[in-house]
This record gives sequence, C-alpha cells and structure tokens, in this order.
Amino acid sequence: MKAATILRYGSPGVVEVRDVPKPVPASHEVLVRVHATSVNRSDCGELLHPTLIRLVSGAGLSKRRTLGMDFAGVIETVGSAASLFKPGDRVYGLCGSGNDGAQAEYFCMPEARAIARMPSNLRFDQAVICEGAFYAHPIIEHFGLKPGHRLLVYGASGAIGTAALQFARDRGATITAVVAGRHLELVRSLGADIAIDYATSAFDQLGPDFDFVLDAVGKLGVPRLRRLLKPRGVFATTDLGPHAQYWPHLLWSGITGNGRFVVPLAKRGSGQAFVNTLRDQIEAGKFIPVIDRSYPLAEIADAYRYVQTGEKTGVVVIAVVTGGSPA
Ligand SMILES: NC(=O)c1ccc[n+]([C@@H]2O[C@H](COP(=O)([O-])OP(=O)(O)OC[C@H]3O[C@@H](n4cnc5c(N)ncnc54)[C@H](OP(=O)(O)O)[C@@H]3O)[C@@H](O)[C@H]2O)c1
Repeated sequence: MKAATILRYGSPGVVEVRDVPKPVPASHEVLVRVHATSVNRSDCGELLHPTLIRLVSGAGLSKRRTLGMDFAGVIETVGSAASLFKPGDRVYGLCGSGNDGAQAEYFCMPEARAIARMPSNLRFDQAVICEGAFYAHPIIEHFGLKPGHRLLVYGASGAIGTAALQFARDRGATITAVVAGRHLELVRSLGADIAIDYATSAFDQLGPDFDFVLDAVGKLGVPRLRRLLKPRGVFATTDLGPHAQYWPHLLWSGITGNGRFVVPLAKRGSGQAFVNTLRDQIEAGKFIPVIDRSYPLAEIADAYRYVQTGEKTGVVVIAVVTGGSPA
C-alpha cells in the first residue's frame, strides 16, 4: 500500500509517499481503508519536534513512520476479538498517536478509541474534521457559557477557532470573532454575533468587556488580552505563542489556583464518546465542516508546507481515494 512515510523528521520535504506493507489488525483493532485524511498543526508539530510532541501527548518516545490523525474511510477487516464494527462500515474519527497514522491507504487502530460511524450527510472528504473540534470542545465546556456572557474568539478562522464558534453558538452568550477581513462572512455564518477584522481600528477600540477570551491561534498577546478581559474574566489558549509568552501566566494561574489562564484539554479516553456526539451534531445540522482545500496523497508534502504557514481556514484535506464518494 502507499503511505506518506517519514524516514527522518524535519521539514515537509522529508514526507515521501512510498510503498509499505499493509498493516494487519491485532485482536481488538480494526483495519481502515482510508478515503480521506488531513494535515493539521499537530502533524506539522510532530514532523518538526517529534520527541517533544510525543512526550506532551503521552504517546511515548518511539517515532512513527506515518502521521495523520483525522480519517474517514471504510472498515476493511476487524481483529478476532473486535465486535463494534464490521467490514464495509463507513467510519471517521481520530486515529491517535500510538500507532502509525492515517496518511496512508490503510491503518489499524483499537476499536474502543476515537472511531465512530461516519456522519451520513457528509462525503469522506468533508468528514476529516474531528481534531480541531476535539481541542475546541473542552475549552467551550470549561467556560460554561450562559446568556449574558460575552466571549471573544481571537483567530476564529482556523480548525480550532471555527469549531469553537460552533460549539459556543447555541449557549446564548454574545460571541465576538476576531479574524482577517477575508474571513468575516465565514465566522458570521458559524455563529459570531460580531465579526471584527484584526487589522482595523475597530479591534483596537474594543474594551475590557469580555468574560471569556479564547486565543485560538496563540497570537493575541498578553497586553491586548489585558485590554479585552474583564477583571475577573477567564482566558484560554491553544498555543503558548511566540517565545512561550503565555507560559508564566499559565504557571502562575496553576500555582495560585486562580483559574484565570487555562488550557482545558479533553479527558483521556473520551475520544469515542466525542466522535459519536460530534456525528450526531453534524447530522442535526449543528456543526458544519469548514474545509480549506484538498491535496491528493501524492502531493502531501505541499499540504504540509501550506499548513505550516499558519494561514489555513479550517481543515486541509488529503484525498487518498480520489474522485470523492457521495454519502
Ligand atoms: N489543530 C490542531 O491539531 C492543534 C492542536 C493543538 C494545538 N494547536 C495550535 O492551535 C493553534 C490553532 O490551530 P489551528 O489548527 O486551529 O490553526 P490553523 O488552522 O493553522 O489556522 C490559524 C488561523 O489563524 C489565522 N491567523 C493567522 N495569524 C493571525 C493573527 N495574527 N491574528 C488572528 N488570526 C490569525 C489564520 O488566518 P489568516 O492568516 O487569514 O489570519 C488561520 O485561519 C495553532 O497555534 C496550533 O499550533 C493546533
């Protein structure tokens, strides 16, 4: 089978599509025929800093030959003790970082992890949207948004930001999204009550009105945050930012227990429940995939180059089976 293979870690140029042996599922695993996967910021991080990323994610020190978290595809075979899925089932989810990843024609994963029946209203290439949502969901849950609250999402146009807007939309809070001018219509369509271009004076004029601020891209910075957050407001971030600028504040918040600077993460083992719940929300029309562009597997190194720019909108898809497949 073909797989995006990494023989030495580093820049996107090290990702090569090669012929490798097709994996065989262990007893509690399933073998997935991948139709689509993605390249996201975690993949780029693991490509550049594999040891650091794998330690932080709890995946151990052994490096993987193939990356890729999000997948959508079809169950090919199941292990002798696996019972949740059968060959032919259309599935989607997050393959985790313990095994080789989904940037390949086939991969194996334990059936009890973050894999679920695929949303019936999506094509494979629209369904590789779990990872950003998986990071956004615990943040919005942590905020406990209620009517009357004011939330600001900075950098709301990425995978995490677009998911955060959609999770926050139905909670009655007033949402302000701060993005580049080219994304204003998008973020309004995803639930922002107010959309502001970060390059305009309208952003500079915002005052300390916000109960919650989410920096979804790690670029807001502490001085601007102080200008926006109410005195007892709560700040969450998805990235430590340039020069790890948020680190001392997160550390102090942790030491004092003041809860002001937080990085809420999903509970370990919550992946399967999450992808099932997300599927229900997608089928109910409450969560819409935001797809930037698609590359064939053969051009995956270009996808890494693009994602590394930090300029993608939502998700970048890798089409493993080309030509799509209507739901
Ligand atoms: N997705 C993941 O797997 C993951 C996991 C863990 C942590 N993270 C971290 O979380 C952050 C967001 O990840 P993501 O995947 O959601 O991001 P992303 O998809 O790479 O998108 C970032 C978005 O931010 C916008 N942006 C760039 N510069 C900006 C600025 N100065 N102010 C406001 N917006 C700006 C970009 O659009 P414009 O250039 O048009 O403004 C882009 O749409 C990253 O720092 C990443 O390292 C991501």
